[in-house]
Amino acid sequence: MSPRHVTSIDDLSLEEIGSIFFLAEKYLRELAEPNIPYRVSMSTNACTGSVLATLFYEPSTRTRLSFESAMLRLGGQVISSADPMASSAAKGEGLADTIRMASAYADVLVLRHPREGAARFAAEYASVPVINAGDGAHEHPTQTLCDLFTILRERGTLNSLTVALLGDLKGGRTAHSLAYALARHGANILLMPATGMEFPDHVASRLQDAFDYQYLEASSLQGADDRITGAFVPKGATVRRFAAIDVLYVTRFQKERSAATAPDYPRVNAAFLASQHFHNTLVLHPLPRVGELDPGFDRDARAGYFRQASYGVPVRMALITFLLKGDAKGIGSEVSAGRTSDDVACGNANCISRDAGEPATSPKLELLPSDPPRLRCLYCDHEVPAA
Ligand code: NCD
Repeated sequence: MSPRHVTSIDDLSLEEIGSIFFLAEKYLRELAEPNIPYRVSMSTNACTGSVLATLFYEPSTRTRLSFESAMLRLGGQVISSADPMASSAAKGEGLADTIRMASAYADVLVLRHPREGAARFAAEYASVPVINAGDGAHEHPTQTLCDLFTILRERGTLNSLTVALLGDLKGGRTAHSLAYALARHGANILLMPATGMEFPDHVASRLQDAFDYQYLEASSLQGADDRITGAFVPKGATVRRFAAIDVLYVTRFQKERSAATAPDYPRVNAAFLASQHFHNTLVLHPLPRVGELDPGFDRDARAGYFRQASYGVPVRMALITFLLKGDAKGIGSEVSAGRTSDDVACGNANCISRDAGEPATSPKLELLPSDPPRLRCLYCDHEVPAA
């Protein structure tokens, strides 16, 4: 039976996300309870005897450390390859071979990679669950779990919120995964991109096709902050009123994924958030911040980003337990076969299927029921016109 993978936030149903959060709450209580030694708590033994491998081909602080802390707190053990220059990747070994090996060394693999679609590609070669810890500019589903968990705790609901996404919406994978999850909860997604950093086409079309969303120009948003450039909202009304914003999600410029510079990148501080729209807004950021979010704002009651980062441990503890011991164990979720194609390549030059150093790759695209017909890459989700 094939293992269960989490390569996109859409790999988890809303019911599953709910049960992961239920467990994360329990773990959070245990972690916060100083009088219960971890050794005797329910969490400590949940994954005794299991090994988690972190395979990181890109820098990381929070994601890798919180995954490793999570597994150790569950009583499991961790092996880590955090520096591609110190592994056989430096000798030219492809990802497929590394994943085959690592599947024999660990019970769950956590992968971060600069190529879009790398996690789905890895899942084809893994005999244990693969968790996507960020694949290029594509997705970062476990960051989204932390984001949603924070919003749920601090706003009491995930349903029908108004959430503004600010910054690099083009290169920021956290914003992509979060938008898909918000769309499943009926959110109004307001856009505050830095200049030239709007959602890529494939993200916009997925919101419209898969979640029945529509795009509204700024002129159709009544009463909205005038820095909002447009919005994705559930299909229906053509004009919407947005007086208050429930959550502002700030992201940094992904300079490692862009040849451009960003001289007029927004800077979020108390003055930026002075308007009535942000009066009661929860301000989140996946971190790291590199100048776009003023440290002077940290003490403001609206600042939620350090709590958001701290939830990384209980949320990832719950996800690991779910995959290794919970309902997910034994449920197969194959990477769908799609229409494999030798003649049509993915249009995204950074897709794993176009990695010349990866001997095993070949394009895999699925035909979308669209007019005109389009093909979507099964690894990175970019689209090309169908011939
Ligand atoms: C994010 C990432 O790696 O995409 N960081 C994280 O995992 N918390 C955000 C970023 O690097 O900008």
